[in-house]
Amino acid sequence: MRTIRWEEGVIVTVDQSLLPRRLAFIKLKTPRQVVKALREMRIRGAPLIGAAAALALAQTAYRLRGKPKDRVLPELYKTARLVRASRPTAVNLFNALNQVLGEAESLEDGRDFADRVVEVCLKFVEADAEMNRKLSIHGAKLISPKDRILTHCNAGAFATVEYGTALGVIREAHQQGKNISVLATETRPMLQGARLTAFELKRMGVSFKLITDGMVGYVMYRGLVDKVIVGADRILASGHVINKIGTYTIAVLAGRHGIPFYVAAPTTTLDLETPLERVVIEERNPREVLEIQGVRIAPRGVEALNPAFDVTPPELVSGIITEKGVVKPERVRSLA
Ligand code: MRU
Repeated sequence: MRTIRWEEGVIVTVDQSLLPRRLAFIKLKTPRQVVKALREMRIRGAPLIGAAAALALAQTAYRLRGKPKDRVLPELYKTARLVRASRPTAVNLFNALNQVLGEAESLEDGRDFADRVVEVCLKFVEADAEMNRKLSIHGAKLISPKDRILTHCNAGAFATVEYGTALGVIREAHQQGKNISVLATETRPMLQGARLTAFELKRMGVSFKLITDGMVGYVMYRGLVDKVIVGADRILASGHVINKIGTYTIAVLAGRHGIPFYVAAPTTTLDLETPLERVVIEERNPREVLEIQGVRIAPRGVEALNPAFDVTPPELVSGIITEKGVVKPERVRSLA
C-alpha cells in the first residue's frame, strides 16, 4: 500500500493519528499544512517524513510553474526553512531537502524549471519505495525459517512511502514462506507498535503477539526471541543508531541474551557528518506520557519526561540492513 501520493499539487497521505480506528487519508494543500501534520505525527516515520519534505518542496515548485529559476529557488529555500523546523531528529527530512535543493540548483533555467523540480521531488519519493524493497530482500537473507523476531515502534509501510524497512524485511521473509512469527512492542508513549505495526502485521497475515515495552527482558530471558529488527531515524558515521525511545533498552537486553540486533534503513537515513553530541533528540510534550489517547493516567501536577528517541551504540548492533547490502555498524561509511 502507498502511504503517500501526489495529486496535482496536493499531498494525499494516511492520517496515522487515527489508526487503528480508521484508515483515512488527509489532503495537504500547502507546505504549512505539511509541517502541521508532521508536528502532530499524522505523518511520521523517518523515510515518510523525508518523502513529505520533498513533496512540500514540490508544492512550492508546482505553485510557481512557468516562473524562472531565480523566482522559484528562493521560494524553495523558504519552504525548506519552514519544513526543517518541524521535527529535529529524523535525518531523512534534512537529507530530502538538501538533495532536492542541490538538484534544483544544478538544473538549467527555463520555462519548465519548476516542472522539472517537481519531477526531482517525485523521483525522490519513488526511490524510497525502491530502496525499501531492495533492503527487505537483503534483510530476508538473515532470517531463518521459524525465526521469532522482535520489532519496536513502526518501521512498516506507514513509516515509509511503501513496503517498510524493519517490517519490510519481515514482510519479505513471510512472503518467502519462512514461517516466521513476531513480537511487537506497543511503543509508549505514542503506541506506534500497538496502533500501526499490529495493524500492518494483521493485514500481512503474519503470526504475531503484542507485548508491552516492559516485557522485552522477560521474553528474551524465556528464550522467545531469535532476532531483533528495528528501523532508524538517523545512523551516524560512528555507527550509532538513533531510533524510537526504547530501542537502546532492547539492544542492551539483546546483547545480554546473545540475540542478534539488526537495524534496517535506507541510505537516506545516514548522517555521515554530524557528531553524536550535536544530534538533537526531540523532546515532545510531556502530556503524551501523562495521558493515553487523551485520558489522563497520572495525578494532576505530576511532571514527565518525553524524549522521543534514544541512541544505540555500534557495539550493540549486529548489522545495518540497507538497499546496498548489510554492513557492520563500523563500516557505515563504506555505504556513502
Ligand atoms: O516518532 P516517530 O513515530 O516518527 O518515530 C519513528 C521511528 O522511530 C521509527 O522506528 C523510524 O523512523 C524508522 S521508520 C522506517
